[in-house]
Amino acid sequence: MPTISPGLERRVVTTEAEATQRLAAALARVARPGDLVTLSGALGAGKTQFAKGFGAGLGVTETISSPSFVLMAEYEGRLPLFHQDLYRLADSVEAVAGGLVDDRQATGVTLVEWPERMADALPVARLDVRIDGTGDEPRAITLRATDASYRRYLDAAVVDSA
Ligand SMILES: Nc1ncnc2c1ncn2[C@@H]1O[C@H](COP(=O)(O)OP(=O)(O)OP(=O)(O)O)[C@@H](O)[C@H]1O
Ligand SMILES: [Mg+2]
Repeated sequence: MPTISPGLERRVVTTEAEATQRLAAALARVARPGDLVTLSGALGAGKTQFAKGFGAGLGVTETISSPSFVLMAEYEGRLPLFHQDLYRLADSVEAVAGGLVDDRQATGVTLVEWPERMADALPVARLDVRIDGTGDEPRAITLRATDASYRRYLDAAVVDSA
């Protein structure tokens, strides 16, 4: 069983989509160029809701929707936001071949829905966001910094259980 260092994980519960968006917006304020944030959870868990809030926190004014058919969408904000949805991707070989690992990502923040699709091609330093719950259930949102450089996100998580 892997050990998780104390202090590198934080859990927040939200009971409405707007609260998930507010949490994500608060996290976006500490985003730096080159950051990678993975969003895991079942269909309908709230990964795209999180992405919308994160974009708002970065000052993106364009509507963020699920880029299911383009794999990666790019938005202009305080930093560029790259939003990937890998649901339809077969594996990481296809991800690399499809240009999902792009030099320009170093200039902005990348959010990845369905990161398990490119597991072995993901950089090791990341903020992993896991959303548990669907439908009318509350969402338990676990933030895990896989590297100390991502700890700032845990400090930025506002507790807002609305
Ligand atoms: N606390 C909550 N946080 C986030 N979304 C919530 C919450 N409560 C209800 N919802 C609803 O759950 C749905 C989440 O949809 P969303 O598209 O974000 O899921 P997703 O994880 O991106 O799914 P997919 O895997 O299909 O891309 C939305 O309809 C949203 O309004
Ligand atoms: Mg989605």
